[in-house]
Amino acid sequence: MSFKHIHFLAAAMAAVLVALAPAAGLAETPAERGKYLVNSIVACDNCHTPKGPNFQPIAGMEFAGGRVFSGPDFRAVVPNITPDKETGIGNWTDDQIINAIRNGKRPDGTTIGPPMAIRFYRTISDSDVKAIVAYLRTLKPIRNQVEKSVYKVPPPENYGPTVTHVPDTPRTDKVAYGRYLAFSLGHCMECHMPRKDGLPDYTRVGGGRDDVVGAPGGGLITAPNLTPGNPNGIAKWTDDQIKAAITTGMTPTRPLVRFMAFDWYKNMAPEDLDDIVAFLRSLKPVPSGQ
Ligand code: HEC
Ligand code: HEC
Repeated sequence: MSFKHIHFLAAAMAAVLVALAPAAGLAETPAERGKYLVNSIVACDNCHTPKGPNFQPIAGMEFAGGRVFSGPDFRAVVPNITPDKETGIGNWTDDQIINAIRNGKRPDGTTIGPPMAIRFYRTISDSDVKAIVAYLRTLKPIRNQVEKSVYKVPPPENYGPTVTHVPDTPRTDKVAYGRYLAFSLGHCMECHMPRKDGLPDYTRVGGGRDDVVGAPGGGLITAPNLTPGNPNGIAKWTDDQIKAAITTGMTPTRPLVRFMAFDWYKNMAPEDLDDIVAFLRSLKPVPSGQ
């Protein structure tokens, strides 16, 4: 092999290593990990960036708040989470931001209301929640004062015992890591799991939900049953078909309503998508229409 070839090979290998590094967690800083998470599975800005008439994010307003979610008994205005000191969270400490994400508590002691999926974010690991905060710190501060939300039924006093420590989920267990992605980071199950007495029903994981708020036009929308109990569901699809639905919104039979965070999910690393599919394949059948 000539020197030229060796040089070429070395360059090619370096390129492969650079491409693999973020996914494998090699030499990744917390802010890089946070950037990857927020721009793929977590998608905070799907809510925290205001949207224009065609549901596209308004350029120059990234994470600056103002989007409105209306439910039967609330009108939530999404706050500014850029580092702006007056209208954003620039004056909050890391621990205060972590407490807001995992416990739904602001520094003044008030509780964050729906639709932010605090019940799911409670189980984000210490290292991932710190990574998300490190990334939020890198955002451009944007001045944007938003109105206060109105809840006819006040948000709960708390979402459970205060969370202070959550260990990492090992990546070696694909189903467990896929579950972590689908519950804690992506809160897929906030929408794809039915409710009982107003709370997620953990006896029917993946069973779907017909009262998801925030549909285009302001109404309710059905999130399908993802378990083998749905005769027309994803259990009969190939892995690639399931991945395409998650990342492009195209199913084998129809385009989905542009409601899920496809434009973020498409940035997921291939192994994260694989693990979500492994988790979805592990779901126990929940009969449809229950
Ligand atoms: C489904 C929409 C949604 C998603 C996704 C979401 N949020 Fe929120 N968030 C909200 C709403 C709505 C509020 C305000 C609720 C209220 O007024 O009580 C809020 C409040 C907050 C607050 C409190 C800010 C303040 O000034 O009161 C912080 C901090 C926050 N979110 C951070 C995040 C982060 C970080 C993520 C991603 C990990 C995230 N949010 C994902 C909707 C969302
Ligand atoms: C905010 C609510 C919400 C979240 C979060 C959400 N989904 Fe969905 N999902 C929906 C809705 C609503 C539809 C159906 C849209 C339609 O009917 O066009 C859907 C459709 C799907 C489908 C197609 C199923 C079928 O039978 O057609 C799959 C697969 C899916 N979601 C997986 C996921 C995964 C995986 C995640 C997390 C990474 C996720 N969803 C997060 C609301 C959500």
